[in-house]
Amino acid sequence: MKVTVSRKAHFNAAHRLYRKDWSHEKNEEIFGLCNNPNFHGHNYELIVSVTGEIDQETGYVIDMKILKDIIKFEVEDTFDHKNLNIEVPEFKELNPTAENIVVVIYNKLKPKLSSHLDLEVVLYETPRNFVKYSGE
Ligand code: NI
Repeated sequence: MKVTVSRKAHFNAAHRLYRKDWSHEKNEEIFGLCNNPNFHGHNYELIVSVTGEIDQETGYVIDMKILKDIIKFEVEDTFDHKNLNIEVPEFKELNPTAENIVVVIYNKLKPKLSSHLDLEVVLYETPRNFVKYSGE
């Protein structure tokens, strides 16, 4: 019997979508307002879901306190109030789209969880736009 437990989190961050190897015109065409050289911010919302068997001793899939601390350390402390392009090493050469951010977050969280637990991360860039990654 597998159960999924989820925790919400959030962070505010700035980014700019562009490719150094593209002309200004091409960046404007593909990324539009997101290519603003002065950056722009989002209130990112995150839903981290962990699926696994209920531990017979504790009754937990994962201790929520532990999950909370992992998210805080790996995501909130490293992304909140940061400029993703400049201050987060993963995005030095990687465009910080919602798609790439959700994969980076997944890859930071997954090694911190027991290997028998499945992970899914949903990232909202706006209340209406969100992406999902579960490692496939
Ligand atoms: Ni944006």
